[in-house]
Amino acid sequence: MSGELEGRVALVTGAAQGLGAAVSDALASEGATVVRTDIQGTDVTLDVRDEAQVKQVIADTAEQHGRLDVVVANAGVAFVKPLTETSLADWRGLMEINLDGVFLTAREAAIQMAPRGGGSIINMASITGLRGSPLIGTYAAAKAGVISLSKTLALELRDHGVRVNAVCPGFIDTQLVRDHADELSAAIGMPIEDVINAKQGRMGTAEEVARLVLFLASDRSRFSTAEAFVLDGGSTGALV
Ligand SMILES: NC(=O)c1ccc[n+]([C@@H]2O[C@H](COP(=O)([O-])OP(=O)(O)OC[C@H]3O[C@@H](n4cnc5c(N)ncnc54)[C@H](O)[C@@H]3O)[C@@H](O)[C@H]2O)c1
Repeated sequence: MSGELEGRVALVTGAAQGLGAAVSDALASEGATVVRTDIQGTDVTLDVRDEAQVKQVIADTAEQHGRLDVVVANAGVAFVKPLTETSLADWRGLMEINLDGVFLTAREAAIQMAPRGGGSIINMASITGLRGSPLIGTYAAAKAGVISLSKTLALELRDHGVRVNAVCPGFIDTQLVRDHADELSAAIGMPIEDVINAKQGRMGTAEEVARLVLFLASDRSRFSTAEAFVLDGGSTGALV
């Protein structure tokens, strides 16, 4: 721990557990003041579907601390269903959190950061946004949208000193994966753990994702923007 984020202010969505909690801990361990937000289980309640709430919480954070350096748009959900069995309500329900929620969070972060001369926005995407992803197609489409909006926002904000990057993890050991493991295993006819081990070597850890986010939050990544950073143990690097 070098205290490289001493004096910086960060806000994380979906911070009650999993990747959001690990990212928040990592940012705090480097000296940042971290505003942890979630629909439940954090001091600050923030439902990323609620435009007015997103606006208010991000503006209040910047105003109270006089700055806003890092925003991690991490909140997300998943469901397992082939696209042909996916209703419009299923689709919209997920998009509202995983894509609209990231759009609102990143937009409001940008609105606060740009006039203050800079900042780093980190959007939680996934390797599913880079590939066809049977059984989780709605989730994958949302993540592809997150990657795309991150790149465009980065280019629109470059002259204001605001960097925007997407993070694309493979399978990481969190509640999200545990909640859907049985369903995925049943659908593919073999334990999902075996697929993960074959593709990635092993499951990733939340702390490993947090380390990448820390890099993107810090000045060490000052020339990195409009990029989608993959961490998946080589999964997407392989042909078979
Ligand atoms: N775990 C993985 O393998 C993996 C891989 C790639 C990407 N991701 C992404 O990482 C992010 C975090 O996932 P995780 O694995 O930590 O999942 P998780 O289920 O452990 O945590 C997700 C958090 O988001 C919160 N949340 C849900 N709906 C919300 C809303 N409307 N507003 C605010 N918060 C809300 C939940 O309360 C929960 O605390 C998600 O965007 C997920 O898609 C996860």
